Amino acid sequence: MIKFSNINKEYQVGNQVVKALSQVNFEIEPHQLTVILGPSGSGKSTLLNILGGMDRPTKGDISFNDRQINKLNDHDLTSYRREVVGFVFQFYNLIPSLTALENVAIAAQLNNNDDLSENYLKSVGLEERMNNFPNQLSGGEMQRVSIARALAKKPKLLLCDEPTGALDSTTSMKILGILQNIANTTDTAVVMVTHNPEFERYGNRIIRLKDGEIESINDNEQPLLVGETG
Ligand SMILES: Nc1ncnc2c1ncn2[C@@H]1O[C@H](COP(=O)(O)OP(=O)(O)OP(=O)(O)O)[C@@H](O)[C@H]1O
Ligand SMILES: [Mg+2]
Repeated sequence: MIKFSNINKEYQVGNQVVKALSQVNFEIEPHQLTVILGPSGSGKSTLLNILGGMDRPTKGDISFNDRQINKLNDHDLTSYRREVVGFVFQFYNLIPSLTALENVAIAAQLNNNDDLSENYLKSVGLEERMNNFPNQLSGGEMQRVSIARALAKKPKLLLCDEPTGALDSTTSMKILGILQNIANTTDTAVVMVTHNPEFERYGNRIIRLKDGEIESINDNEQPLLVGETG
């Protein structure tokens, strides 16, 4: 579905060049949870931003269903970002003056999605909290609103940058379970960046980055399901 071929990303900072990614190759498959691990500064967010069309590689090719993403002009890249990609961030990025329901509805509208926004909130178990404002919700609840908001775009690719980075371990597992369920039951591919090495056992594919390079790629034939003990 997604193929990264020899991706390099360099940032120019003053007269210094920072190599964020070098010669990165991997594929992302639908119906899968891909987990990206690596130390701070190893290039995880850079990789996710390039996947999501928020940034462009310095060199290399990215294809989405055989479409060359790196060759798109700005207008078409915006459409890709809007129509294909859903994003979930560590600190939720909800609009504070809108209720949970309104935060989701705005994303649905942007993509002309007539599905009821309530249903997206129900799917993450938040039917009781729909009319609350973000500051009336817990961290885990806010993250569930932000997942519902991303889903309201009907993304083919759901990109999550440390979605559990600010949450306790029980709540983190709940969020992981929701993401795993999306990957297993819909045709949305889910990619999650995390610092939590425990999540490795729950992903279908594990990509490890080190100093901007791929350290390893491993496929789990039988990933652990959240809720199962192992
Ligand atoms: N916009 C930018 N301008 C210059 N350098 C950047 C920029 N974005 C990232 N970098 C550099 O690229 C490297 C990779 O950064 P990146 O944010 O991808 O790391 P990360 O793996 O997500 O780290 P963390 O776990 O801390 O979030 C770092 O050295 C960082 O300083
Ligand atoms: Mg990061």
